[in-house]
Amino acid sequence: MNVGILTGGGDCPGLNAVIRAIVKRGHQFGYEFTGIKDGWRGLLQSKTIKLTKQAVSGLLPMGGTILGTSRTNPLKDPKDAETLFKNIEALKLDAIIAIGGDDTLGVAAKLHAKGIKVVGVPKTIDNDLSGTDFTFGFDTAVSIVTWALDRLHSTTEAHQRVMVVEVMGRHAGWIAVYGGIAGGADVILIPEKPFDIDEVCAVIKKRKEEGKNFSLVVAAEGAYPKEAGGMITKDKTLDSFGHAKLGGVGEFLATEIEKRTALESRYVVLGHLQRGGTPTAYDRILATRYGIRAIELVNEGNFGRMVALQGNKIVDISLAEATAKLKTVDLEMYRIAHIFFG
Ligand code: F6P
Repeated sequence: MNVGILTGGGDCPGLNAVIRAIVKRGHQFGYEFTGIKDGWRGLLQSKTIKLTKQAVSGLLPMGGTILGTSRTNPLKDPKDAETLFKNIEALKLDAIIAIGGDDTLGVAAKLHAKGIKVVGVPKTIDNDLSGTDFTFGFDTAVSIVTWALDRLHSTTEAHQRVMVVEVMGRHAGWIAVYGGIAGGADVILIPEKPFDIDEVCAVIKKRKEEGKNFSLVVAAEGAYPKEAGGMITKDKTLDSFGHAKLGGVGEFLATEIEKRTALESRYVVLGHLQRGGTPTAYDRILATRYGIRAIELVNEGNFGRMVALQGNKIVDISLAEATAKLKTVDLEMYRIAHIFFG
C-alpha cells in the first residue's frame, strides 16, 4: 500500500507530529509513504518526496511542516481537477491522508465522493472545524496569546493605557475567547458577536472610574463593529478558496477608543507568531493520536472519514459532515468570558 500524505492551508504547530505518527504506525503495517509537497498544489505538479521511518525521526517538536503547504484549490479549474486525478494514478497512490482545515478537507470530501480513498486529519489554530472538540495547534496558539497578554499587562498598566490585542480567528473567535480568559482580558470581541464601539468604551471608562487605569482588549481578526456590517480586510484580494486577507480591527479599535475616551491607546497584532514554532505537549499528544487513528482508518479500509476528538476519545466522522459548516464559539464559554469584562 502506497499512502500519500499532504498538509494544506495555513500551517499549524503539530503538523510534523501527525506526519511522524502516521509513518511510524503505517510502517508496522508494511506501508510505503509518499509525501506530497505544498498541499494540493504538489499533487497538481507531482511534487513528492519519500517519507521513510528515518525521514520522520525527530519531527515531534518541530513547528511548520516538512511537506510545505499552500492554499491551492485544485478543484477550482476543471483542467486542474483532471490533472489531479491523472497524477493520483500516475503516482500510484492507493490512499491519501489530507491534514488540513475546512478548505483542504472540503477538497478531500469532494475527492472521496468521486471515488478517491481519502482520510482527513483536522488542523487549524482557529479550532473552527465541526465534529471535533479541538483541532491540534489551537492549544499552542492559546498559550502564545496567554504569554503575550501576561507581558502586555505589565507595560499597559505601567503606562496607564488601553492595549488592543488582535489575534487570529477568521470566522470564529475561539482563540480570542480561550486566550482572553487565560490572559485576563477586560473585553473580548469575536466575529460571532458584532460589537458596539460605544459599549466597549463604556466598559473601559467604568474600569477607570473604579480605579483601574488600564484595560486590555482582545479582538479576533474577524471581529467587526455592528455599524460596519462586515469584517475589516487589508485589501480586496481573495485566495483561491475565496477568503479575504483579514487584519486591521486592532488598529481601528485603538484609534476609536482613544478618540472616544481620551485614553492613550496602542494595539499589537500577534499574527503569525500564533502559528509558528514548537507545539505544546497537549498538541503533540493530540496530533500523535490523530495520526495513529488516521492510518488505522486506512488500514481498516474506512475512507471518507475525518479523525476527531469527542470528550477524551478519538472517533471518526464523515468528511462531508465535518466540512458542512464551521464550528463557531461555544456561547457558554463566551458567557464565562463576559463575566470578567470590565
Ligand atoms: O489558518 C487559519 C489562519 O491562521 C486564520 O486565522 C488567518 O486568518 C489566516 O490563517 C492567515 O492566513 P495567511 O497565513 O495566509 O495570511
